[in-house]
Amino acid sequence: MERTTVRISPEDIARQREFCEKIQERLSAQNKEYLAFVDTYGCQQNEADSERIRGYLRDMGYGFTQDENAADVIVINTCAIREHAEDRVLGNVGALVHSKRRHPGQVICLCGCMAQEPQVAEKIRESYRHVDIVFGPHALWRFPELLYRVLTRRGRIFENAEEPGSIAEGIPVVRQGDVKAWVSIMYGCNNFCTYCIVPYVRGRERSRLPEDVLAEVRELVAQGYKDITLLGQNVNSYGKDLGLEMDFADLLEQINDIPGEFLIRFMTSHPKDASQKLFEVMGRCGKIAPVFHLPVQAGNDRVLKAMNRHYDRAAYLDKVKRLREQVPDVVITSDIIVGFPGETTPEFEETLSLIEEVRFDALFTFIFSPRVGTPAAKMEDPMPMAEKKANFQRLVDAQNAISAEKHAAYIGKTLRCLVDGVCQEEGYALTARTPGNRLVRVVEGDESLIGTFREVKITGANTWSLWGELAQA
Ligand code: SAH
Ligand code: SF4
Ligand code: F3S
Repeated sequence: MERTTVRISPEDIARQREFCEKIQERLSAQNKEYLAFVDTYGCQQNEADSERIRGYLRDMGYGFTQDENAADVIVINTCAIREHAEDRVLGNVGALVHSKRRHPGQVICLCGCMAQEPQVAEKIRESYRHVDIVFGPHALWRFPELLYRVLTRRGRIFENAEEPGSIAEGIPVVRQGDVKAWVSIMYGCNNFCTYCIVPYVRGRERSRLPEDVLAEVRELVAQGYKDITLLGQNVNSYGKDLGLEMDFADLLEQINDIPGEFLIRFMTSHPKDASQKLFEVMGRCGKIAPVFHLPVQAGNDRVLKAMNRHYDRAAYLDKVKRLREQVPDVVITSDIIVGFPGETTPEFEETLSLIEEVRFDALFTFIFSPRVGTPAAKMEDPMPMAEKKANFQRLVDAQNAISAEKHAAYIGKTLRCLVDGVCQEEGYALTARTPGNRLVRVVEGDESLIGTFREVKITGANTWSLWGELAQA
């Protein structure tokens, strides 16, 4: 296999840290607090990237704000997965023209998956002239250098040329919380599902070295993190590009062996690569949370083939059955696309029958959105949007009924839950998560319990969540 991964050298990262120091010197020469606003769209991968952007910004001396008018630097980390996501970003970026007018020294950066799309970069170049820096995911590791160039020379920077996918270790990170943490184990995707933009904007699959992943998890556990999610577009391919003996299931087992009380989750798994070995490892490793996100996308074989998913309905159902044999109480969630080009309503009804057969705990449902440059965007798509929306609604209604029934079955059970925050809703004190990651609102309890595992008795449920009380120890 062609090995195009570039491992960014420690010297290159050290150079970026020097740019952070140079910026910090410039800022500290002024008697003022400098603030940055990092706004994140899209998936957990983007959340994890934003934590690194914040790490760099903190090292440069910036504080953080959520107010675009107060910010000296604005970084918008974007998602390209559906048109709706892109439209929201463009609307918000357009509105920043006002904050820039009030604050001419403000630096506006657009990064992430949209920034890697040539037609988006062109649009920003022509019509969003208040944006100073556009950089794709490949250039994230050199953000300090880009910002330094703009701060010292002004002018605009576009760093979104196609380049080999890279792996950079040692970028500073400011994490969003102190209970849950993301750990990227690999980047990019080789699957080229015909509807999906990700392989084009994130490049080919490449894995971090196991020792780097293990060191990061060990450090998180030592810092007291309790809920660690391993990230990748297709975690089951972990390690294939490294030519190692070890695969994803082996990595999980090694993480499970790290001493300490914590939970391991992972996402996302492609059904074609989710292996019996992985199910067995989940079954026997106590720290791996009993939850599995296994996107099916559609229930009809012709549609699955047109999507280039490399499994059929029967193979998917077989994986679910084997997963449940190994992990009996596993919570299974999935993604579904309604209205893929050429999908007929009878074909859609096979998606409905599939969800009735599997009975997922929750679903993420999307109406197909054509993405420039993907094969599906060029396919005949005769179904009117009204029909797609009607099908979508049938799916949502069917799943809501299943989710409500599944949640109702929790009532009366006592589960070991991770208390993860203060509940903002009236009548509840805390939020917690079941082992399968379902949200529980806890009636009473002190904030000092956040970050601990507690027995919670479930007393009520609806379609989306559960509620309950701390069981007496
Ligand atoms: N790597 C993950 C998916 C990442 S994208 C996987 O393979 O499962 C998350 C979800 O967005 C996908 O599972 C799919 O359901 C949805 N999605 C991706 N491209 C889409 C498009 N063009 N239109 C609508 N939904 C899409
Ligand atoms: Fe997109 Fe398919 Fe890759 Fe997931 S596996 S990121 S849906 S191309
Ligand atoms: Fe969106 Fe990029 Fe994630 S397109 S879903 S932010 S990988």
